[in-house]
Amino acid sequence: MNYAIVYSSKTGNTARLAQTIRDTLGEKDCLYFGAPDPAAAEAGLLFVGFWTDKGQADEELTAFLKGLRGKRVFLFGTAGFGGSQPYFDQILDRVQAALDPSNRVVGRYMCQGRMPAPVRARYQAMAAQDPAKWQPMIDNFDRALSHPDETDLAALGRAVAELAL
Ligand SMILES: Cc1cc2nc3c(=O)[nH]c(=O)nc-3n(C[C@H](O)[C@H](O)[C@H](O)COP(=O)(O)O)c2cc1C
Repeated sequence: MNYAIVYSSKTGNTARLAQTIRDTLGEKDCLYFGAPDPAAAEAGLLFVGFWTDKGQADEELTAFLKGLRGKRVFLFGTAGFGGSQPYFDQILDRVQAALDPSNRVVGRYMCQGRMPAPVRARYQAMAAQDPAKWQPMIDNFDRALSHPDETDLAALGRAVAELAL
C-alpha cells in the first residue's frame, strides 16, 4: 500500500523523525513527503508529524488533519518538554482530536526535541529572579539538547516497521 509522510518542523527535529519513517518504509511506495498538501491525502495511510506549539500542533498541520476522511493515520511529534509519557499522551490526544471519526489512528509516537539557544538565555534571565521556578526549565532544556537521539529514532523505526502496510 502506498503511504504519505506529512509534517511540520520549524527547527528540524520532527523532520528527522519523518526521514526515519521514510528510511524504514522505503521510497518506492512513498506517494508524498513534505509539508501539509492536499496531494498527500491521495494515500490511504498517512504519517502525520508535528512540533508542539503551545501544547498543540501548529495551525497549518491541524487544518490538514481536520480535512482527512477515511484514512489510516500514524501521528508522530516532538516536544521541548519530555521524559513523561503522560505529557506526550495529552499532547497526542489534543492533536488527534482534530481528526474526523472516519479516520483510524494506527499508531502514535512522540519524543523530546531540542530547543533553540535563545530559549535557554530567556530561562536564565528568569532564573536570576526566581531560581526555584526557572532552574528546572534550564535543566529540562539541557536534557532536551541531545534529542531526538538514536534511541528515539530507533524506537520510532520499530513502531513503524511493526505496522501491517
Ligand atoms: C513558539 C514555540 C512554542 C513551543 N511550545 C511548546 C509547548 O507548548 N510544549 C513543549 O513541550 N514544547 C514546546 N516548544 C518546543 C518545540 O515543540 C520542540 O523544540 C520541537 O522539538 C521543535 O520541533 P521542530 O524542530 O520539528 O520544529 C515550543 C517551541 C516554540 C518555538
